[in-house]
Amino acid sequence: MIIAIDGPSGAGKSTLGKRLAATFELTYLDTGAMYRAVGLAALRVGLDENDRDAIETVSEGLRIELPGTGADLRVLLNGEDVTERIRSKDVSHMASVVSTIPGVRTLLVKRQRQIGRSAGNGAVLDGRDIGSVVFPDADYKFYLTAGTENRARRRYLEDKDRGRDTSYEQTLNEIIERDERDATREFSPLVKAEDAIEIDTSDLNVDEVFEKMARIIRDSAKGSAGLENNAVK
Ligand code: DC
Repeated sequence: MIIAIDGPSGAGKSTLGKRLAATFELTYLDTGAMYRAVGLAALRVGLDENDRDAIETVSEGLRIELPGTGADLRVLLNGEDVTERIRSKDVSHMASVVSTIPGVRTLLVKRQRQIGRSAGNGAVLDGRDIGSVVFPDADYKFYLTAGTENRARRRYLEDKDRGRDTSYEQTLNEIIERDERDATREFSPLVKAEDAIEIDTSDLNVDEVFEKMARIIRDSAKGSAGLENNAVK
């Protein structure tokens, strides 16, 4: 079973994705972390964001792994744990830039498909193009949204919690800039797949969104032979 969760930054994709994966015993894949790992690698070799061919070449030689589950999910870049490092502002910016490069996307999409297809029970993938490009035939497609200020507030509180030096205004500006780049890039821009179920999370808490999504999955799986202990196979 493949569950696709797409939407802009700060709409709750990763929180909900991890929770659905735990409940339905699926592999969780944060595809944004893969773009972030490429962004970090490009920064480390000192590439300029306009050096698109060189970024693509760098991306081809990387080993990106995402071991662990739940709260223990890690991101490894050539064996080094970069889980925390890829959440910094400079990497967020570079990830958004590298995600506009077709060659980088082709490479990562291929890897995402491999991970999704080889996952035992199935996988939950969160990103921007999962339902539209990576798994257009996913069993469930969700598109999570929320107002810009709402998303900025959530991201700001999350950053503050993690001890990052930031302000609400700065976070809001970054979200606006990334939204713009994600939605207007030529190759696989952020779009809601036609058959995705859109959920506006602005006025809902995490439990409420989770219940909505889980109900959709459980209801449509009712009567199917594979329903065991909540797990849909
Ligand atoms: O979800 P995130 O903020 O960690 O994603 C980092 C960047 O990667 C963001 O600018 C959008 C981009 N991205 C993408 O283009 N396609 C995906 N499937 C996932 C992320």
